[in-house]
Parts: sequence; C-alpha cells; structure tokens
Amino acid sequence: MRILGIETSCDETSAAVVEETGDPMRPWVIRSNVIASQVSIHREWGGVVPELASRQHIRDICGVVERAMEEAGATWRDLGAVAVTQGPGLVGSLLVGVAFAKASAAAARLPLVPVHHLAGHIESLVLQNGEPPLPAIVLVVSGGHTSLYLVQEPGRYELLSRTRDDAAGEAYDKVAKLLGLGYPGGPIVDRLARGGNDRAVALPTTRLTHADRNAPELKGDLDFSFSGLKTAVLRYVRGRDVALSEQEIADVCASFQRVVVTVLVNRAFDAARRHHAKSIGVAGGVSANSRLRADMQEHGRLREMPIFFPSLQLSTDNATMIAAAGLRKFREGIVAPADLNADAALTL
Ligand code: KG4
Ligand code: ZN
Repeated sequence: MRILGIETSCDETSAAVVEETGDPMRPWVIRSNVIASQVSIHREWGGVVPELASRQHIRDICGVVERAMEEAGATWRDLGAVAVTQGPGLVGSLLVGVAFAKASAAAARLPLVPVHHLAGHIESLVLQNGEPPLPAIVLVVSGGHTSLYLVQEPGRYELLSRTRDDAAGEAYDKVAKLLGLGYPGGPIVDRLARGGNDRAVALPTTRLTHADRNAPELKGDLDFSFSGLKTAVLRYVRGRDVALSEQEIADVCASFQRVVVTVLVNRAFDAARRHHAKSIGVAGGVSANSRLRADMQEHGRLREMPIFFPSLQLSTDNATMIAAAGLRKFREGIVAPADLNADAALTL
C-alpha cells in the first residue's frame, strides 16, 4: 500500500509518498519527498511570520502534492490513504494542509489519517534506520519542542520530560538573532561554532530537580530549560562595550552550543539508564546539529549504546515522516472523520 503524506505545520510545505514493504524490521520505503521551504520569505523578518506562512502554503500546496505524486509515479488510484499533520504548529499553516488533505481524500474516496507532528519526527528514525532495539529513548529536539520519550513498543510514545520554557531550536534561533546572524539560527550557529573556542565564555547550565506544577505527572528531573542560557548570552553580548569580533562571535556560538549539547546528551543518557533502554534516537530539526551528532555517537560508543539519527534531509520538517507515522496509525485502525480540524496544541 502507498500513502500520501502532507505536512504544513510551520514554514515548509511538504508532500511525500511512502510505501509499505511488508518487512517488520524495515516497514517503509520513500517513493518521493518534496519540500518547498519558505525560509527566504521569513528570513527578511528574522523569524516565521504566521500570516505569511499560511498564505505561502496556499500558493504551494497544489504544486508540491502534484510533484510528489509524479516523482513517485503514482496516481490517486494507487493510494491507500492520505495522512496529514493535524498539530501541533501554527494554526493557519496547519489548516491549509488539513483542508487540502480532507478535500483530496474525499474526492479520491480515500481514508484520512491524522498525524501528530512529533510522532512524525519519531518515526523518521524508523524510516531511516528500521525498527530500533526497544525499549528506546527518543529525544525530539526542534524549533518548537524539546522532549524525551520512552518507546517500549512500536508506535507507543510515553512522555518522560520536556522543556519548561524555550525549545533548543528556539534558543539557537534567538541566540543567532541577538548575535545578528540571521534566520534560521541553528545551522548558522552550528557552522560558526566549528571555528570557536567552546570554553571561551562561561555560561550556566540548568538542572531542574523539582516537579513542574503544570505537569505533575512528570518527575521533572529530566526536564530542560533554555531561556536562562539565552539570557546569559544576551547579558554577555550587551555587557561588551565594543562590537564582537568574528572570532568572539564564533567563541560565543561554540560556548553556547557546548552547553546545549551537553545538557541534551546527559539527559538522554540519564533517561536511558533509568529505563534500561537498548537504544537512543534523536530526531527533529536540531538533530541535524553536527556537534550533537558527534557527541551522541561518542557517548554511545563509550557506553555501548546504539545511537540513531535520521538523515539530514529527514531531520527538519518533511512529509515523509508524516506519511510513515500515518501508515502506522492506519494499520492500527485510526482514521479521521470528515470534519477533522487542525489543533495547534495537539498532545501526543
Ligand atoms: O523540526 P524543525 O524543522 O521544525 C520544527 O518542528 O520546529 O526544526 C527547526 C529547528 C530550528 O529552530 C532550527 O534552527 C533548528 O531546527 N536547526 C538546527 C540545525 N538545523 C536546524 N539547530 C542546530 N543545529 C543545526 N544544524
Ligand atoms: Zn518539526
């Protein structure tokens, strides 16, 4: 069976066709993955402008879906279902994908499968590497989320912890902005950090040991917090009388990145130890980070823990992962009613 996936939760319009293999260890293959990025539009404003994003999704969606079908060599008759990101994300952006998916599923008489964006990121690991040894710890690090999940069986995600304030990607974007580096900040900071001294600037790490009043079911000690770190970078930059030199900017990037990556790696391995995990996966936009990849692999080697990442293309937002997660849900019998609505704050 082939499924069409549609993703429009933020600033990428994406459509993809994924096919089932029948092999339980490697359940899906990618037939096409088309991504229209809006980065050049939002860069001018230093971040994603929601109204501009939804308008651009409307312009792009038909062409993106047509190309995904064409590249897969598929017609609507070849599909078994349509999967779409229902949330979380920007509501105006989500609505474009949801409306398009509902209309096309109805017209082609196909079942519609609602997908949680983070389930998509988690399944990008399976798309890329096949089923990981379970139980697995999955760290989802993106522009909107930083969370740890325990996966004990395929398709079941148990939330262990999350960020109390900024997401890691958001912190990258804000630090890049205050250094005057442009948008999106993650890849730029990652690149500049390679030429910097990661001990040059002393920045704080946060360890939260108390439970979150907003989420009493979580213990809290595996939680994340990045807003203090961002403020510390801001104070350091403001505290300087003269503009930072290129080398100093690289040093700030490297020092900031060291703190972020250290926290992410330590929490993921703490969670793995606590839950006797047999593997660790890292997904979401920030999983493209070169230092996070290197440090996770290095720790994994030392502790004999298999570490999984998606390919760089599947790290940031894409519809392939939505199609894969959609296939999994479809096989569990989950389909959406015709009045499916987008949900900006959907929980997993
Ligand atoms: O998953 P994603 O594409 O969208 C969301 O669901 O949020 O993640 C985008 C985030 C942005 O904050 C971006 O700065 C960050 O991922 N990012 C990176 C890198 N590439 C993308 N952060 C650090 N290093 C990178 N190489
Ligand atoms: Zn994402």
